[in-house]
Amino acid sequence: MRLDRFLSETTPLTRSLAKRALKNGEVTLNGEPIKQAATHIDTQEDVVLLNGARLALVGLRYIMLNKPADVECTARRGLYPRVIDLIDLPKAERLQPVGRLDVDTTGLLLLTDDGQWSHRVTSPRHRCAKVYVAELAEPMEGDMAEWAINQVAEGIMLDGEETPTQPATLRFISPRQAELTITEGRYHQVKRMFVALGNHVDALHRRSIGDIELTDALAPGEWRELTPEEIASF
Ligand code: URA
Repeated sequence: MRLDRFLSETTPLTRSLAKRALKNGEVTLNGEPIKQAATHIDTQEDVVLLNGARLALVGLRYIMLNKPADVECTARRGLYPRVIDLIDLPKAERLQPVGRLDVDTTGLLLLTDDGQWSHRVTSPRHRCAKVYVAELAEPMEGDMAEWAINQVAEGIMLDGEETPTQPATLRFISPRQAELTITEGRYHQVKRMFVALGNHVDALHRRSIGDIELTDALAPGEWRELTPEEIASF
């Protein structure tokens, strides 16, 4: 890898600030001062110091965040703070949400810079279960609740779509609170499923994705790295 790129990948410096640091003599390569930005280095073997501090590439990163409401999953700056603004890691903007949550949805959000892993989690072919808890505007109980459970189990035709949703599981915690487990991630899927059932979602929270569950250990806005077992579970 080129030395200026290595510097910009391992520090908050941009490529041009990395070149300036090189010119200013702030960098050594294997103990020798170096100024040439185009020098090719072996990122595993060579020892690069910036002002005496050793630099190393970070590997792929896997994060879980307890997303609060009023935070956006987009990369560009807009009306609301972005989820990556909550993650105090260098180059956090390289992390991509693994399946977005709406701005008002709370709960478990995974982020990574590993595109293949992200695909395994989100692709409907892999049928990874995502569990949501929805607060409903209208109570559903008795025959109506049973009808809704059956509809969801069979698959629902969403407005403007040509294929029904994959079979999913609906469970009522109370007449106004339901747990929905789905294996796809269509646009506003949970809210649109409840609209198709004649209801409206007032609040939505994602509880788990596959084997990864949000617990009280992470307060809203807090994040942690996934364990190797959690990463391997997909
Ligand atoms: N389904 C929705 O409608 N919204 C979300 O944020 C996630 C799933």
